[in-house]
Amino acid sequence: MTDQLEITDAPKIVIAVDGYSSSGKSTMARELAKRVGYIYVDSGAMYRAVTLYALRNDMINEDGSVKTEALIPHLRRLEVSFEQLPGEDGVQHTLLNGEDVENEIREMKVSKHVSPIAVIPEVRERMVQLQQQMGLQKGIVMDGRDIGTTVFPHAELKVFVYAGLHERARRRWRELSNKGMDIRFEEVYANLEERDRIDTTREVSPLVKAEDAIEFDNGAVTHEEQMEWLIKLFQETIERIENESRG
Ligand code: CDP
Repeated sequence: MTDQLEITDAPKIVIAVDGYSSSGKSTMARELAKRVGYIYVDSGAMYRAVTLYALRNDMINEDGSVKTEALIPHLRRLEVSFEQLPGEDGVQHTLLNGEDVENEIREMKVSKHVSPIAVIPEVRERMVQLQQQMGLQKGIVMDGRDIGTTVFPHAELKVFVYAGLHERARRRWRELSNKGMDIRFEEVYANLEERDRIDTTREVSPLVKAEDAIEFDNGAVTHEEQMEWLIKLFQETIERIENESRG
């Protein structure tokens, strides 16, 4: 199941995987990229890195509101990149101005403030610019909220992943608990609910399914079933593109 696919001669495409928090889209996107030898980019990690930067530099008020005017001038100089460490199979580390912040950006203190940071148009503009640069050579799988609508509206394959809130909260709580974080299920649930609300109602690039995205209900399927479905879709997409280019 985890073997690399033989697609060396196939045209390279852009794959957008969007969906709700903890819907399993990152796992699907990461594994697909690995199987087909593409670059994987977790765009949410980039918004999380900006949030960490704002927290560290006292740009978030006690009430959770963001000191937008203080943050904006820093965006140009803010570098967010990814690195794979040798020996860690396919695991990516997020770097903020060269510092490995992978663990810290997954903490609740960041999850609590990330959606208000991600509504700021200037933050989105900068992140989208960086994301589009990463996709210039194609051969990329990117997951997020607005990848199929704003970042890569012409992506050859778009997937929109959803699952019920309770199931998503359960998965995220288990993931964080397994990492040793002492956290209550109710807190995780409330955070996902609040982020869903902000992400779907914001003015710039809200979380919506792109018209041409293919929906996937990830609520009650096994990991194997997810991947089987996605790989088949990938292969069909490549075949379609090859046929179209043959005329
Ligand atoms: O891991 P999880 O699904 O909880 O979220 P994430 O993908 O790490 O994204 C964290 C937050 O960043 C989201 O709740 C959104 O507010 C924001 N985000 C966004 O606005 N646009 C994206 N393309 C990706 C994430």
